[in-house]
Amino acid sequence: MNYIGSKLSLLKFLEESINKVVDKNSHVFCDLFAGTGAVGAYFKKKGYSIISNDLQYYSYVLNKHYIENHRVLKFEGLVDTVPELKNIKLSERKDVVCDYLSKMVGVEGFIYKNYCPGGTKNKKEQRQYFSDENGKKCDAIRQRIERWKEKKIITDGEYYFLLTSLVESVDKCANTASVYGAFLKQIKKSAQKLFLLKPAELIVNDQDHKVYNEDINKLIKTVKGDVLYLDPPYNQRQYATNYHILETIAKYDSPNIHGKTGLRDYADQKSAYCSRPQVKKAFKDLIDNANVKYIFLSYNNEGLMTPGDIKEIMGVRGKYGFFTKKYNRFKADSGRDYKAENTLEFLHYVVCRDAK
Ligand SMILES: C[S@@+](CC[C@H](N)C(=O)[O-])C[C@H]1O[C@@H](n2cnc3c(N)ncnc32)[C@H](O)[C@@H]1O
Repeated sequence: MNYIGSKLSLLKFLEESINKVVDKNSHVFCDLFAGTGAVGAYFKKKGYSIISNDLQYYSYVLNKHYIENHRVLKFEGLVDTVPELKNIKLSERKDVVCDYLSKMVGVEGFIYKNYCPGGTKNKKEQRQYFSDENGKKCDAIRQRIERWKEKKIITDGEYYFLLTSLVESVDKCANTASVYGAFLKQIKKSAQKLFLLKPAELIVNDQDHKVYNEDINKLIKTVKGDVLYLDPPYNQRQYATNYHILETIAKYDSPNIHGKTGLRDYADQKSAYCSRPQVKKAFKDLIDNANVKYIFLSYNNEGLMTPGDIKEIMGVRGKYGFFTKKYNRFKADSGRDYKAENTLEFLHYVVCRDAK
């Protein structure tokens, strides 16, 4: 997924840097601003047991799948509903279920009625985040996944796998420049194509993992691990507003929405890390309460906190250091009034003197 602040292209840099610092007895990796789950998933593949967290529910869904699901998904409860499952290898069953859902006929549900041209044409605000066909298809698949869950014919793991596949597939056909803060005036080519439900990757391994959906400053008081990786927002752009439609598809809770973009209320998802007056206090509280051996922080040179602020706050816990890498700007930011093409990505760290 094309996500603000995604670390997908920095994974090798993170791994090489982290390996230079941590000892061999580090097994539990905490990724508590997890976003797409890309960092947790990468370190899960390296054999770590992962604790993952994010304030946004769509992110919780992605992480429930990429991190917590670590056994083959058998879809045993669907064998009568989807007969094609009977003569197929267990590892291929998830693809067959996605195929089945991909063929569903669309329905006029919440997404169609509020975010598509046909559904909003007689309303005060006309929106075209998706083509009519894709909006209806998204509604049909989302409703069917929920019905299967209510009837208890899919497991929790299967539920989060299907939701992840839907959130990611729908995101690819959104009629936006990249985030959901605005839609395009014309339906672009990639948004005109009818989407297929692409099965999300399943990472099978032996470790147990745990995923949360909480404010990090609250969660940090209850979590214990070896490596804490922090990747907070760097600036004032709240994730709740930039990804509000993915939040609604994940929750499917028919929220009250308002304005040109059909924004849902996000009062309880405002991040202190996007607020200049609040960020340093929140960060200090987080670092002071972390019960781990090592803390790493990804941040760039244009963030709300300066490298000096960060050193001062992290340095209190032990030996401080940092790595840097030049990095291409996020796609949605190009064309804005920035001077530099590249930013300097920092990986700050501290080896905690007093792991609690
Ligand atoms: C820079 S992104 C993380 C990107 C992620 N590393 C990836 O590669 O996809 C920051 C994330 O922090 C989350 N976030 C912001 N404030 C938070 C808070 N107070 N507690 C938990 N998560 C928060 C946002 O929802 C967002 O997903």
